[in-house]
Amino acid sequence: MDKLIITGGVSLDGEIRISGAKNAALPILMGALLSDSAVRVGNVPHLHDITTTLELLGRMGVTITVDERSGVVIDPSTLTDTEAAYDLVKTMRASILVLGPLLAKFGTADVSLPGGCAIGSRPVDLHLRGLEQMGAKIKVENGYIRATSGNGLKGAHLMMDQVTVTGTENLMMAATLAKGRTIIENAAREPEVVDLANYLNSMGAEITGMGTSKIIINGVESLGGTQYDILPDRIETGTYLVAAAMTRGKVKLKDTDANQLESVLLKLKEAGADIAVGNDWITLDMHGKRPKAVNIRTAPYPAFPTDMQAQFTALNSVAEGSATIAETVFENRFMHVQEMQRMGADLQIQGNTVLSNGEGRLTAAPVMATDLRASASLVLAALVADGATVVERIYHIDRGYECIEEKLQQLGAKIRRVPSSA
Ligand code: EPU
Repeated sequence: MDKLIITGGVSLDGEIRISGAKNAALPILMGALLSDSAVRVGNVPHLHDITTTLELLGRMGVTITVDERSGVVIDPSTLTDTEAAYDLVKTMRASILVLGPLLAKFGTADVSLPGGCAIGSRPVDLHLRGLEQMGAKIKVENGYIRATSGNGLKGAHLMMDQVTVTGTENLMMAATLAKGRTIIENAAREPEVVDLANYLNSMGAEITGMGTSKIIINGVESLGGTQYDILPDRIETGTYLVAAAMTRGKVKLKDTDANQLESVLLKLKEAGADIAVGNDWITLDMHGKRPKAVNIRTAPYPAFPTDMQAQFTALNSVAEGSATIAETVFENRFMHVQEMQRMGADLQIQGNTVLSNGEGRLTAAPVMATDLRASASLVLAALVADGATVVERIYHIDRGYECIEEKLQQLGAKIRRVPSSA
């Protein structure tokens, strides 16, 4: 297991490229199960969660070829098994995204039920209820979701009690091959849902309304091969922008899309950042100034993303003034706060809100986190802390940030990866 050693105090300065979006790549790769022939997916990030996804598909007998230009060719026609086993699902909850495609295409799926999670209880009841409304028979047995669809799924009018990203994606994928029309009300509007819908349409699906809260899917007989490039990662983009703002630096991020992160850019401007955007780039310049603390309330897209909450908590801990951050999506997503307190941050948790008091000074400490975005926020805190911070358990970071230390080094940060025993 590796750890990162980061010596704080450098203002970030430079240019980096943003990778393809993890949370679009996962459903898109799993959505290949719906196709009759091979699909090629481009701009796939090199991440641990992608390796897990390819292993999951590989174990089903799917043929996978990875090319050197971040492309993956997936041929599901060789599939021999419709199981997603516990040992993989327990390392990546998003494995649940094979359920909809397997059921729609092959009429049967055995998917290990994801258990608890470091950021909240994260049930999948809405995925299951929607599939049942489409005619699936589902039982949970020996820790597995055992689902069959008899003569095939049927279109249905679905009302999601809560906005769920992977729930919307699972049901949308299932509906592409169902008989008749499916309407998903209160659907997630995240850019990753839109990217998945565009990809499925490029395979021959008939989906409209993506990006709104009402998605309409007309079922088709079959889906076929396509070539599709994954959209840029808005959370990776946001993370590097916050890193630059916290260190009073100046960065240019290329191959990204400013339209997907309006709420984050507005908060960075409120924090005092000078931001400019182009077709596929964003620049941020703090002109050497300390950021101002910003109030935040997380909520589904287009509101402020929960996946950027930990990074802004790090920013507020060194910013000028007091502010509050309310987390409304997950009930236990403040694990980074205790670690930042160990670095001297003046933060207090009150219910679902974290209050920051503009202490402005962090000091190095050994820290670790139990989820991806929390781990990333500790790296950001370390970039401004006095001394050398050791961030342990960075396998969480490797699940979602491609080459984080190389990218930060390119921006001038003093960061290195060493084996944990060192
Ligand atoms: N929920 C239910 N029942 C369900 C599904 C969801 O109660 O059947 C609840 C959840 O417990 C949560 C809320 O609904 O309180 C929203 O959860 P959602 O289902 O939207 O989350 P998710 O689909 O499991 C995706 C991302 C997460 C991101 C959330 C919210 C992927 C693979 N994961 O998770 O990304 O935080 O949406 O935007 O797309 C990350 O990348 O670090 C990450 C955790």
